[in-house]
Amino acid sequence: MTSVPAERIYLDNAASTPVADEVIQEMLPFLKQQYGNPSSIHYYGRETTRALQSARKQVAGLINAKPNEIIFTSGGTEADNLAIKGTMLYKPSTRMHMVTSSIEHDAVLEPCKSLEAAGYKVTYLAVSGDGMIKPSDLKDAVTPETKLVSIMYANNEVGTIQPIRELAAIAHEHGAVFHTDAVQAVGKVPIDVRELGVDLLSISSHKINGPKGVGALYIRQGFKIDPIIHGGGQESLLRSGTENVHSIVGFGKACEIAGKRLPVYQQQVSRLRDYLIKSVQEKIPHCRLNGSATNRIPNNAHFTFFGVNGEDLIIKLDENGIAASTGSACSVKKQKPSHVLKAMGFSYEEITGSLRLSLGMQNTAEEVDRAVEVLAQVVQELRSLSPFKSKYS
Ligand SMILES: Cc1ncc(COP(=O)(O)O)c(C=O)c1O
Repeated sequence: MTSVPAERIYLDNAASTPVADEVIQEMLPFLKQQYGNPSSIHYYGRETTRALQSARKQVAGLINAKPNEIIFTSGGTEADNLAIKGTMLYKPSTRMHMVTSSIEHDAVLEPCKSLEAAGYKVTYLAVSGDGMIKPSDLKDAVTPETKLVSIMYANNEVGTIQPIRELAAIAHEHGAVFHTDAVQAVGKVPIDVRELGVDLLSISSHKINGPKGVGALYIRQGFKIDPIIHGGGQESLLRSGTENVHSIVGFGKACEIAGKRLPVYQQQVSRLRDYLIKSVQEKIPHCRLNGSATNRIPNNAHFTFFGVNGEDLIIKLDENGIAASTGSACSVKKQKPSHVLKAMGFSYEEITGSLRLSLGMQNTAEEVDRAVEVLAQVVQELRSLSPFKSKYS
């Protein structure tokens, strides 16, 4: 049995974040006294309706949207599904083609696959070695049949940020709609939907210190899509089902906090991230930082440790109280090599030796020191057991 480490260090904030105390406080009344259904017309219903309106304003405020442009969903996955299927299935036309990238989250790739199975055509854009999409590739991929372009704002594994404004403009020049999965970017970099010119944008609450199981799709005013969940017509007929009131309230508060702290977050977390990268590079030989050195979200550090298996690394780190990840929490369960790193042209060795460390506001320089110390020991230990030990010792 593994002995439990004295103190745990959480470096997997891209997978999920701790729920802020202020968020929990804001949610509690909606689990206790204010339990009404927002569709009811009595006092209890009016109270929860008011709470939804207020949360909608808070979420909209974080991305410079209007409250009526926010549709609450069960999270980032549903927001992506709603954006993609909702657009492609709306008023079936001659436009049966969409463009996305080869490094999207499964929440985008899987609905694309299901559309392909139904006869739609999907083009997957390639990326460079640091995970960037070339705008000229999008120009070449769009055709008069293209209805939708869906490109993620920031990648969940390597943290690379795409030139969304430029990509959205190209889509629009060709009469296509533009969606971005901004789940890893919202609350970490300034996002203004008007300035970006996007039609649809996905957000998830649990990546920004809100509760899990709630998120939103921004839908530009006047833009029409089909619902994918049918029923009582909640959320402007676009997402039926009694609203997850307490979670939506928590999500709203998390957005308000994220908006207020954004300049501090960017400065504090990116400084800690740079310190982490420098320490790893100084203390651990034969490692490489992956993703863009400049266009990356503040909280992401992604490495390849040559001669080491990333899964073994995570298990060893966990035994020492450090929570890290090889990349997407969702594809870990599928036990398949990262499609993102594959698309970036990585060899099998580069993929299997990869590790993502993602930071949050709660992390400290002392935690980074301790984590790097343990990481250096563990990497050395695993390399000494590896058949390639002479190459990397
Ligand atoms: C880029 C990206 N999109 C979508 C999702 C899915 O969001 P949720 O967990 O809220 O369904 C994630 C979650 O990791 C993500 O990183």
